Amino acid sequence: MKAVLLVGGKGTRLRPLTYRIPKPLIPVMGKPLMMHVIDSLPAEVDETIIPVGYMRETMEAYLKEHPPSRKITIVEEKEPMGTGGAVKNVEDYIDGDFLVINGDSISSLDMRRFIEYHRSKKAFATISLWEVEDPTPFGVVDMDVNGKIHRFQEKPTRQEAFSLLINAGAYALSYETLDHIDEGFVSMERQVFPRILDRGMYGMRFEGYWVDCGTRENLLDAYRTLMKANARGGEGPDDGRVIADRAAVERGASVEGSSIGPFTYISRGTVVEPGSHITGSVLFEDVRIGPNCRIIDSIVDQGVVVPGGSVIESQILGAVEQAVE
Ligand code: GDD
Ligand code: MG
Repeated sequence: MKAVLLVGGKGTRLRPLTYRIPKPLIPVMGKPLMMHVIDSLPAEVDETIIPVGYMRETMEAYLKEHPPSRKITIVEEKEPMGTGGAVKNVEDYIDGDFLVINGDSISSLDMRRFIEYHRSKKAFATISLWEVEDPTPFGVVDMDVNGKIHRFQEKPTRQEAFSLLINAGAYALSYETLDHIDEGFVSMERQVFPRILDRGMYGMRFEGYWVDCGTRENLLDAYRTLMKANARGGEGPDDGRVIADRAAVERGASVEGSSIGPFTYISRGTVVEPGSHITGSVLFEDVRIGPNCRIIDSIVDQGVVVPGGSVIESQILGAVEQAVE
């Protein structure tokens, strides 16, 4: 079974991080965002196809340097084709029922169960569903007790929203779905889903967590969510990190004489000089925090040097475009 990973965006809301690396390579708890998704795929997924336009060379270089244990194929997407068009563009790689996954979020969805559910319903298409309080920034479904979806509306107004169940961005699709995607720029959500609804579209809800990683706030929230999940007995300290009080310091980082508040993640090679206070923040690799700094709810990119005495609150400090004041 093949999986198509959709990571086409430029990640503008994560600039300046995404001036240096594309969003799929942004580290989340020491692992690139896209690898969280790929690692969650069951063994029967023998190839993950990633249509890429923005920073394709950087993606290819990463995979060369870190050969993945499973097959990943990068396919050039010359210009953005839309979520449906991008899938159509790689149809030659697809050979049967397949998965499509939005690569900008991390979730606890059990992919094996999801595929089983899709098969047990004999569905034409199955989408993963997550409950939210405000469905307006998402795709929302109207689903019956048997899991059959009767209506799908992308980015509804409050009045239009039929439910609080949103498209969590993982789909199991029949091979025939490809026949319903036109050539050119096509939106899966706005054009393809409405068209295939009456062929038998099902939804599977899941519990646990689902976090978007598209903005500073969301990315920090993803770290918080995963730290909480780990604290409940996930990956232990023997994976090279010290996890205490819902903060994580990778082995090879140096933190002395500073206070580290909850939901802080400090990556290897990073040095925090004495007298600093860091909370709710993520420091990527090889960062240097000078003495007596305050870093709050911020992300500091790889290699950035923060001068002593700096106060950084709710910011992204980039390695490529320095935003230190
Ligand atoms: N290859 C490629 N080409 N990928 C694309 C393109 C494209 O032209 N456009 C978007 N993508 C990728 C994005 O990088 C992202 O990972 C995924 O497809 C979804 O696109 P977004 O632009 O992030 O859409 P959204 O967040 O507004 O809405 C989508 O995700 C929601 C859940 O996060 C929709 O699928 C909603 O229905 C859904 O609820
Ligand atoms: Mg998105």
